[in-house]
Amino acid sequence: MRHSSTTRRQLLSGLVTAGTAICLASRGGAQSDETSANILSGVRLEPFVDPLPVPRVLNASARGSRSHIYKLTLSEFRQKLHRDLPPTLLWGFDGSAPGPTIIAERGCATTIEWANQLPVRHRLLVDHSLDGAGADVPEVRTTIHLHGGHVAARSDGYPEDWITPGCRQQTFYPNQQAAATLWYHDHAMGITRLNAMMGLAGLYIIRDPEEERLGLPSGDFDVPLILQDRILDARGQIVYPVGPDPNTPWVPEFFGTHVLVNGRVWPYMEVEPRQYRFRLLNASNGRVFQMALAPEQALFQIASDGGLLCEPLVRKEIRIAPGERLDVIVDFTGRQGRRMMLVNYGRAPYPSGGALIPGHVLEFRVKRSSGADPQARDIPATLSSVPQLKEAEAVNHRRLLLVEIMGAGGRPHRTLLDGRRFMDPITEDPKNGSMEIWEFVNTTGDAHPIHLHTVHFQLLDRRAFDSRRYRLTSEIVMTGSAMGAPPEEQGWKDTILCPPAQVTRIIVPFSGEPGRYVWHCHMLEHEDNEMMRPFLLRS
Ligand code: C2O
Ligand code: CU
Ligand code: CU
Repeated sequence: MRHSSTTRRQLLSGLVTAGTAICLASRGGAQSDETSANILSGVRLEPFVDPLPVPRVLNASARGSRSHIYKLTLSEFRQKLHRDLPPTLLWGFDGSAPGPTIIAERGCATTIEWANQLPVRHRLLVDHSLDGAGADVPEVRTTIHLHGGHVAARSDGYPEDWITPGCRQQTFYPNQQAAATLWYHDHAMGITRLNAMMGLAGLYIIRDPEEERLGLPSGDFDVPLILQDRILDARGQIVYPVGPDPNTPWVPEFFGTHVLVNGRVWPYMEVEPRQYRFRLLNASNGRVFQMALAPEQALFQIASDGGLLCEPLVRKEIRIAPGERLDVIVDFTGRQGRRMMLVNYGRAPYPSGGALIPGHVLEFRVKRSSGADPQARDIPATLSSVPQLKEAEAVNHRRLLLVEIMGAGGRPHRTLLDGRRFMDPITEDPKNGSMEIWEFVNTTGDAHPIHLHTVHFQLLDRRAFDSRRYRLTSEIVMTGSAMGAPPEEQGWKDTILCPPAQVTRIIVPFSGEPGRYVWHCHMLEHEDNEMMRPFLLRS
């Protein structure tokens, strides 16, 4: 996964030209979509000309009520993604994409009424050959899921619980869980990748007194960074590639040419010379970001998917897969007047016909003078306590294979969990209150971020196996020793990256309201094409 330092240095030095315009001509035929390649040619976008937008905040807890109802409308609108582009047609919540950030207080429930006011035709090409997205169902359907939330099945945004334009849906979120960065997004059967691409996502933050006591940067200094990669045409419109067969336009994965942060291409952010908390969310369909600050400076990771880590971790680089969240503290103290860049140097940064587009994400501009001189304060040495779950406590083990079925031309045409399709009978049926170990055996050449709904889990270990032998004999023979969870993955997780040719083992305390949920790959192209399975939480 890790790039050699040479590669990285080269990439970073390529960034000196940050002010120059970037040419997206000749994207190349990797995705065999001539139309989008043509439209793309000629798009030149300058990085760091737009200030970072911060989504509007909905926060009822300030009013001291123990529960609150919001109404959010899903609709189509135009929004500017870059200074030099005409407004882009997007789908979002209450007129913005990403949608407003909802802030909830632990113990105070939230009810949300989602009103679907979207058009009846999709803006992107629906693949009607995918299960659940056939010509027999309405083209535009939505169901909203709170990713990372401990919620009852009826409010979980089950893929088949969709509503059509003109309809409303209510979800109830008890918020009985530790402070954490969650997010809401569409989960409709067979079209989640397209609905997400159009913009249907937003942040959902749970706070609690335990976290408040730590005195971490808050208010204006607690800033979400929602990452989404996109391909834009010369008129600034969203382009989504299609496969070679017009009847099955599904593509196995999506990698965009531009990164949006909070809905802007390559923005900049003016910061005070002090500490900030950034809540990173990778809301991309398929891109794994591997990021660092340039010039190099440490990021202090304080939280992962399920909330605070035990202690802050000094990270030179961070990796964040689709669906994951990661909270960091960055200290700009003493950096007055300087600029710093958040850079992605992950695999395949931005496809552009062979030419590598530098991995800009965001530029920080540290202000020279600030009114008050905030006192430099240390990040608390202890943040929280995360009990380490023991293998011996597990009452059940499940070995689950991650599989890709190859079609013509060595192109995957379907992805599966344990060889089963979504509509096949339920096989994962953990008992409520029990602990299970799930081991994901990745037989494919891709890394898959696997996500379970309604629970949080811990990573036990990852271990290499002989994938060649597996292909020949279907035997799983380990080749390396088990690698325990690295510090950044020792907290509570709900999405875990499963590298190719490795067995990734998680331990899951299943508890919640009995009912039917799902687990799936969070590469949305995979999720939409069968890499999703229901699971039954048995009472
Ligand atoms: Cu973020 Cu089932 O999804
Ligand atoms: Cu989820
Ligand atoms: Cu996948």
